[in-house]
Amino acid sequence: MDKIVVEGGSRLVGSIPVSGAKNAALPIMCAALLPTGASTFKNVPLLQDVATMGKLLRRLGCEVDGKRTLTIAPPTAKKAKLEAPYDLVKTMRASILVLGPLVARFGRARVSLPGGCAIGARPIDQHLKGLAAMGAKVTLDHGYVDVECKRLKGATIVLDMPTVTGCENLMMAAALAKGRTVLENAAREPEVEELALVLNKMGARISGAGTSVITIEGVDELGPIEHAIIPDRIEAGTFAVAAAITRGDVLLEGARPEHLDAVVAKLRGAGVHVSAEADGMRVRGGGELEAVDITTQPHPGFPTDMQAQFMVMACVAKGQSIIREMIFENRYMHVPELGRMGADIHIDGRTAVVRGGKKLSGASVMATDLRASASLVLAGLVAGGKTEVLRVYHLDRGYESIEKKLRGAGAKIKRVKT
Ligand code: EPU
Repeated sequence: MDKIVVEGGSRLVGSIPVSGAKNAALPIMCAALLPTGASTFKNVPLLQDVATMGKLLRRLGCEVDGKRTLTIAPPTAKKAKLEAPYDLVKTMRASILVLGPLVARFGRARVSLPGGCAIGARPIDQHLKGLAAMGAKVTLDHGYVDVECKRLKGATIVLDMPTVTGCENLMMAAALAKGRTVLENAAREPEVEELALVLNKMGARISGAGTSVITIEGVDELGPIEHAIIPDRIEAGTFAVAAAITRGDVLLEGARPEHLDAVVAKLRGAGVHVSAEADGMRVRGGGELEAVDITTQPHPGFPTDMQAQFMVMACVAKGQSIIREMIFENRYMHVPELGRMGADIHIDGRTAVVRGGKKLSGASVMATDLRASASLVLAGLVAGGKTEVLRVYHLDRGYESIEKKLRGAGAKIKRVKT
């Protein structure tokens, strides 16, 4: 298994290209099940999760060709295989995103229940509640959920919480349902808006995406499209923190500041200079970083996917930062590892108190989820000496060539095959 080795202390200068967004690409790939022909997507990030989704779609009978530009041809009703098996779903929870499109297009689906994961229990009750409200018969047995409905019917669905993949699944299901579906308390993430844009290009009639009420007027058929994936706001945010903590000056090529309002506000609060440029976003760290308090929330609040990275910034900033993780109940796995690097962090339930101003020191570390692993790479950039980040497969799920991109801006970082 590979590891990432970082020699801390380099200032990051130059530009880093931002890849296509993982959490936009995954639902959009599933949306390719809906139309009657092959769709082509550009700017697809080269990630393990995208490869896993490709594998799942092939198992369902799709033809999947290409990498950066990806063409997905859905199967005919005769050739479709309507089961997402445990071996794939357990490696990637986003596999649940095939449920809505399969039922909408083929009338039936059997998907393994994802179960818990490293960051929390993560139930899918809202996905199932929505499909049941649209007339589907939902049964659970042997660890699988079976959903059946000849033609879904539009319904008003009030979500208990603004779930991102829940909204995406229900939007895809409702696109081919009979009549109008209204999703209330909907997720407002840019990736939800992007999926609505893709579905509308296919011929769907969706309005309100990006707000908390999404209305979908069902249509009888959707057509294939071509579409380029938006840049990854979390990858951009991760590199922004890298620039800030190394007191660097980095242009994040392609980053869209309008997707990062809460992150940019907190960076500025810490004394980091952030400016929009024609081709991306520039981040300059100058003097000493100030402590910042953070509470994760659904978009447009501060994203949970940036919590671990900001915790590293809090470790080296002056003063005490309070961090509250309100989305996932178990998303502090990076804390003990950062502790081994000399960080002073105290956890009490969902709250972490970070006493900053610490000089971190390099160590061998590992984490059990994607963003936690990214935070350890960031810590390695500012730590004294050598840091080895093990279990790199977590990083490869969501960061394209992270070591090459950081090395391009002057970091001393490499991947070592072990
Ligand atoms: N929830 C329920 N029931 C449901 C659905 C969600 O209780 O039916 C709860 C979850 O347990 C959680 C909260 O609602 O406490 C929000 O979860 P959400 O459903 O919004 O998360 P998700 O759709 O499973 C996506 C991203 C995550 C990101 C979260 C929050 C994708 C493929 N994944 O997950 O991304 O953290 O939204 O923004 O879009 C990552 O990229 O590292 C990652 C984990």
